[in-house]
Amino acid sequence: MSESKVLADPMPVAVLKEKSLKGAPLKGPKGHPILGVLPMLRDDTLNFLKQVSRDYGDLVPLRILMSTAYLLNHPAHVEHVLQKNHRNYKKSPMVGKLRPVMGDGLLISEGELWTRQRKLIQPSFLKERVDALGQRMVDVIDKHTKLWDECAASGKPFNLSWDVSAITLEIAFQTMFDTGLGADAQGFKDAMAIAHDVTAERVWNLTSLSEKFPTKRNREYNEAIAYLQGICTRIINERRASTHRSDDLLSILMEARDADTNEAMSEQQLRDEVMTLMVAGHDTTATMVGWAIYMLAQHPTHLERMRDEVDALMAGRLPQASDMKGLDYTKRILQEVARLRPSIWWFARVAINDDNIAGQPIKAGTTVFISQYLIQTHPQIWDDPEKFDPDRFLPENTAGRSKFAYFPFGAGPRVCIGSGFAMMEMAFVLAMIFRRYDVEITSDEPVFGNLVTLRPHEDIWARAKPRLRH
Ligand code: HEM
Repeated sequence: MSESKVLADPMPVAVLKEKSLKGAPLKGPKGHPILGVLPMLRDDTLNFLKQVSRDYGDLVPLRILMSTAYLLNHPAHVEHVLQKNHRNYKKSPMVGKLRPVMGDGLLISEGELWTRQRKLIQPSFLKERVDALGQRMVDVIDKHTKLWDECAASGKPFNLSWDVSAITLEIAFQTMFDTGLGADAQGFKDAMAIAHDVTAERVWNLTSLSEKFPTKRNREYNEAIAYLQGICTRIINERRASTHRSDDLLSILMEARDADTNEAMSEQQLRDEVMTLMVAGHDTTATMVGWAIYMLAQHPTHLERMRDEVDALMAGRLPQASDMKGLDYTKRILQEVARLRPSIWWFARVAINDDNIAGQPIKAGTTVFISQYLIQTHPQIWDDPEKFDPDRFLPENTAGRSKFAYFPFGAGPRVCIGSGFAMMEMAFVLAMIFRRYDVEITSDEPVFGNLVTLRPHEDIWARAKPRLRH
């Protein structure tokens, strides 16, 4: 039996051990004679990686042109790259495809710049700061769900994916800028959609040459970015020129000072961080909320348990930040959705110096792929992995499971800065929608799209009905 097969043999959850590969040649897919597995990765990243992990185990070489990357599919490997030896790994140039949108913002920056910026921005996401933004979230959701009344009255299906995206974009705007999108709403949404789609198309371009040609698509993309940045710049300039003070994120970022130099961020850095937070925070949350609504519509028993919790806690009033403590089941539902449908479902890092993972030499410059989706549905880690079961996250059921078997918000120093923000926002959306409406999904079962986030290939459509109380 080959070593790679040994790695794929089932093991009980608690004893899934990292296998040492010392001396054993690793096996992986052959791929195209010249391009290697690049075409497969480009055409259907998720299904290809899923198949590869099934066929070859937890550490799989993937030849891409002349170089070999590795798929790491074991919690111990994740811990090694993201935590224990994180200094030896930088973000891959694939993340750099977001640079035209996010510049040198927190998601992309490295080294000293990242360290300084993380220290400056981290306080904006402390629990009490995020809690203070809760009322803005509730106001946006309340306004939107009232629009659902019209859909409920007409009985007409509506584009659920589009609608939750509108909610999270409006929340991103209100919490960042203390203002709504107003007349810019449609333009902003369209520009965001183009930026997202073109970034996904470019991820597997190994050079950026074709991105410089004046093609129609490249022009559309450049115009979309200029539009998005133009709006952010305008709002920042207006804020500087006014005496208006607010507790929104923009004010906090503008007032943040470096502890050593007492310097504020430069204009360019401020805009990059604003764009980063808008983009990193909006589509991820919308994608997950869309899946959560879809899954709850498929699992009425879990939905009723969640509603019981919400009804008992809020008794008809709107949620507030302090309710998060009591929304245990709602949070478990979100944790389970994030396990099965992590919005960011894979990422890549590049080794800076030579390393060794489970006995396999990793040369400097090698790319490693890590997938939340694959590890969070790993059949040797999770019982009945495809089953929707929020109680997996009861404390008594998580004992013995590696922290790195579940990381929808990343792990280590580069863990998501907005996870608390996102959890509160998503819990509020679910509570406020389902306390008033039943949701019937009218589109076919969604399949994964080949995008940056784990959005369905086609939008999810639904019909809202006034809630029937049992
Ligand atoms: C369901 C929602 C979200 C998910 C699943 C998610 C997921 C992630 C993941 C996996 C990372 C780590 C990426 C890596 O290590 O390469 C990350 C980083 C980041 N996220 Fe989120 N995120 C979400 C919401 C948000 C929100 C609401 C914000 C801001 C308002 C945000 C801002 C960021 C930023 C700035 C980083 C970079 C942090 C750093 O490198 O220091 N995210 N996110």
